[in-house]
Amino acid sequence: MENKKRSSFTGKLGFVLAAAGSAVGLGNIWRFPYLAAKYGGGIFLLTYLVLVVTFGFTLMIAEIALGRKTGLSAIGAFAGLNKKWKGLGAIAAIIPVMILPYYTVIAGWIAKYFFEYARGGAEVLAQDGYLDRFIAQPVEPIFWFVLFIGATFAIVMAGVNKGIEQCSKVMMPILIVLSLVIAVYVCCQPGALEGVKYYLMPDFSKFSIMTVVAAIGQLFYSMSLAMGIMVTYGSYMKKDVNMEASVGQIELFDTGVAFLAGLMIVPSVYVFSGGSAEKMNQGTGLMFDTLPKVFLSMPMSNLIGAAFFLMVIFAALTSTISLMETIMSIVQDKTGMSRAKAGWLTFALMLLIGVPTSLGFGPLSFISLNGMNLQGMLDFTANSILMPILALLTAIFIVWVVGVETVVDEVKLSSRFKKEKLFRFIIKYIVPVSMVIILVSSILDTFGIVSI
Ligand code: PFF
Repeated sequence: MENKKRSSFTGKLGFVLAAAGSAVGLGNIWRFPYLAAKYGGGIFLLTYLVLVVTFGFTLMIAEIALGRKTGLSAIGAFAGLNKKWKGLGAIAAIIPVMILPYYTVIAGWIAKYFFEYARGGAEVLAQDGYLDRFIAQPVEPIFWFVLFIGATFAIVMAGVNKGIEQCSKVMMPILIVLSLVIAVYVCCQPGALEGVKYYLMPDFSKFSIMTVVAAIGQLFYSMSLAMGIMVTYGSYMKKDVNMEASVGQIELFDTGVAFLAGLMIVPSVYVFSGGSAEKMNQGTGLMFDTLPKVFLSMPMSNLIGAAFFLMVIFAALTSTISLMETIMSIVQDKTGMSRAKAGWLTFALMLLIGVPTSLGFGPLSFISLNGMNLQGMLDFTANSILMPILALLTAIFIVWVVGVETVVDEVKLSSRFKKEKLFRFIIKYIVPVSMVIILVSSILDTFGIVSI
């Protein structure tokens, strides 16, 4: 990205919208609710909210400031400040390569659901085990995956960023209104109150270190942190834009959508499954199994289903575009290839990783590591290993190599830094200590060495 003429976002709104477009995606609508259901409902929500305004805030400010200061994407920014630390850029580069293929496999399922609703399949989709049967097939899920990654590729190559921005402005508010309507409907169903309580009232006996581990992993994922994306976005930010306020707005938007998605899905699992622990633990399939049952019980189920999945396609697409754009610019910077060549190479690489990942839900499901299939392994390696490592090293880099002042001064270029003390404290002590704890505990827990 360095060798292109650097454009910048038109102003604060442009920056906030672009960053929110990258942040709001499947992470909010698909991943957050199933983690909340799995890790104790209210206690997970509370932990997550506390982390957003402390931990998430600190890391997002740090990344954006590094980008704005250097005017470079992640790979160049770290190296630009200190040559010896250029390895950090390399770690940041690997993460989107691991995330994009499986993210798009799941986005493909969304496209399939949209298609089925659009042709009146509300009843079929609400059948028990529909998703499992669909994803176990060898060919059709790959078709939807290729369609989605192809669409992403086409948009990135056409460079229709303007169009995407315009669509974001329309679709995002619709997504929020629709989520609100569905959430209210779900919460008014008989028996839903228990589910709403489970989601909103923290039960402290369900708290464990794994609640924090899962919440931090989700935080990185949802806010597009610890993978260099926000460094790149920061490099496009004008010097006079208020960074602290922008971060607050991105957080509000991102967390708001996740909260609403949880409110739609977690109580409905209660309603439609009697709140069985097994259902709550279901993981990746939660949204695909539960929502169709909710929609079927509503009037005009096909229309609502189609509208909902169309919005999710859109949220996913803005995220896949930002992921692909990032990977492409890294390939371009590293190899000196033309944009077109770098694009095709990225596309080929995504097919190469994505196809086996899709098959990992069916014919290749025998490839597993501690109960994780290929998608689980990619998700675990990126979110629970590489992202904490990158966050840890970024904190060390800021505190001991370039100095906290570098970031603080950059923030102060455009405004007062209201949460400066909090920022200093978290980046110095909390990030390093908690990242080490998280790394160790997630590895021990996942490999069953100790159950935490
Ligand atoms: N933040 C996105 C989500 O929550 O779905 C996922 C993501 C998108 C991560 C883009 C990274 C990224 F560059």
